[in-house]
Amino acid sequence: MINLSTEIAGVKLDNPTILAAGVLGNTGEILKRVALSGAGAVTTKSIGLKPRAGHPNPICTDLGNVFLNAMGLPNPGAEAFVEELRIAKEGGAPIINSIFGKDADEFAEVVNILKKAEPDLFELNISCPNVASGTSFGCDPVAAANIVKKVKDVTDIPITVKLTPNTHLLVQVAKAVEEAGADAITAINSVGPGMVIDIESEIPIISNKFGGVSGNAIKPIAVRCVYQIAKTVKIPIIGTGGIYSGADAAEHIIAGASAVGIGTAVKDHYLDVFKKVSSELEEILERKKLKSIGELVGSLKEVKT
Ligand code: DHB
Repeated sequence: MINLSTEIAGVKLDNPTILAAGVLGNTGEILKRVALSGAGAVTTKSIGLKPRAGHPNPICTDLGNVFLNAMGLPNPGAEAFVEELRIAKEGGAPIINSIFGKDADEFAEVVNILKKAEPDLFELNISCPNVASGTSFGCDPVAAANIVKKVKDVTDIPITVKLTPNTHLLVQVAKAVEEAGADAITAINSVGPGMVIDIESEIPIISNKFGGVSGNAIKPIAVRCVYQIAKTVKIPIIGTGGIYSGADAAEHIIAGASAVGIGTAVKDHYLDVFKKVSSELEEILERKKLKSIGELVGSLKEVKT
């Protein structure tokens, strides 16, 4: 019997697949449906202090194994989302509540409201590529640590910090958030931003001009980031970026992830993706004669050249 269960900061998951933030996570009912479809945990869309409309359409474009989006962090605001979290819990899987703020104090204010609904984890989105603050927090070890400290001051609920790959200070940011008290790291948020132009009209396809790049093509960047972070910190990592299959998940896990976020692949495999990735992972473990996910976490062999 293969044991697919895993743990992130004391939160137990029946399997390592997690719905990533931003994908289907904007209502309690849909989060519940994703949980019931076999995800080991579900992450909400990032929630801020006040209701926010986001960018006008078009907000995304699908290029096959690359996807661009700039939604502009649309959300109903923290107060309104408390009830959605309560509904989401009926799905039975742990809930990761992604949140954002304009500064460290606002991050803490948002958590202070949403903690009433007792999500299992908060995920601090310090890395949205479509707003200036997201990019700068995620690239600045001091600013990132300050956000973690302010949030830790208002809650005992464990927190994971979602990091951006778009910085040469990745390991410094990872170390700084661990030292500030983060319980886990989610890596990575979308890459870029990127730009796609319609050559006939000569206008950018996305209304915001630029959008975060995701999809299977970013997997090598994500796996490299997970590996570098795992070498730097002791806290667990949720590996996110380009995961469509059990083999993709296994790569993240071998690099050092204890669980995996699945986002863009939902558009191709719908809600079946969670069971698909879990059963493919199970086959991989069986082939390797391993009995649990834990045996694969960070198992990368360093080859001397
Ligand atoms: C948005 C937020 C993100 O964190 C991301 O990676 C991509 C897009 C957004 O809402 O615009």
